[in-house]
Amino acid sequence: MAKKVVVLVGAGSIGIAIARRVGVGKHVVLADYSLVNAEAQAKVLEDAGFECSTIKCDLGSKEDILALVDYATSKGEVKYLVNAAGVSPSQAPVEEILRVDLYGTSVLLEEFGKVITEGGSGIIISSQSGHRLPALPQEQNDALAMTPCDELLQLPFIKDIDDTLKAYQYSKRCNVLRVMYEATRWGRRSATVNSISPGIIITPLANDELHGPRKDGYLRMIEGMPARRAGTPDEVGDLAEFLMSSRGRFISGADLLIDGGCTASYWYGDLQYLKATH
Ligand SMILES: NC(=O)c1ccc[n+]([C@@H]2O[C@H](COP(=O)([O-])OP(=O)(O)OC[C@H]3O[C@@H](n4cnc5c(N)ncnc54)[C@H](O)[C@@H]3O)[C@@H](O)[C@H]2O)c1
Repeated sequence: MAKKVVVLVGAGSIGIAIARRVGVGKHVVLADYSLVNAEAQAKVLEDAGFECSTIKCDLGSKEDILALVDYATSKGEVKYLVNAAGVSPSQAPVEEILRVDLYGTSVLLEEFGKVITEGGSGIIISSQSGHRLPALPQEQNDALAMTPCDELLQLPFIKDIDDTLKAYQYSKRCNVLRVMYEATRWGRRSATVNSISPGIIITPLANDELHGPRKDGYLRMIEGMPARRAGTPDEVGDLAEFLMSSRGRFISGADLLIDGGCTASYWYGDLQYLKATH
């Protein structure tokens, strides 16, 4: 019997938390722009009984995504796709954020939608940041959901973006809309696909911020959230595991916020002060 394959793009904290939950007894392909990251994570997983392999893959490159599809399908049937790669507003310029987070994620969804196995499932990690954009006009929603991937970056309202936070927010909104569109295609293979929009999740980078020069701003934000704490990669992993399990089969094309109520507070609670800066 062919081995079942889990493809994880982005071997960071959130991605690995998901892989640990859904990768048992399967072959886990760790695809990352940084092969060093992927190999380090593969070693930890292998030492914990997982079967893994690694491949260098830039999510923003269609060529790399096609090579990843070939590689993953050579290992067996692709049962699960997880995209937890991404660049944030403080890490990259506008063009890079749009290329990786918006364009690359769209190509990944389209290409894996062609090979996902019957009854498979996909998860795209979006962000609460996309929920801070006001509602877009329907034409823009439709364009983000359905424009052919190669034309996405030429959309006039995308070409006009000139700051990194906006680039990130539009990318994450696009992820959610694209997942809805692709859910209709993945459904033809009886596969589900959903996005998860995490809030502040403690990772090495976030932990540095919480102890760095901007810590007061972070702490004020956390105080204003209903949960009054940040989240953990494991909590995102638990949600992803549920969505991909047999219990989640009636959920497809959905976006699940997991943010401790931060978005609710941003629009209607103590965090409304943030609107002036976002
Ligand atoms: N940590 C948070 O608070 C938080 C909140 C909301 C959303 N997110 C989203 O979660 C996802 C994962 O974040 P994380 O916190 O686990 O980050 P992380 O930095 O731990 O992991 C990200 C991984 O993606 C890889 N990567 C970066 N650019 C890539 C590219 N072009 N191609 C392939 N791989 C690439 C990195 O090498 C890294 O291994 C991102 O999409 C991020 O936007 C994170």
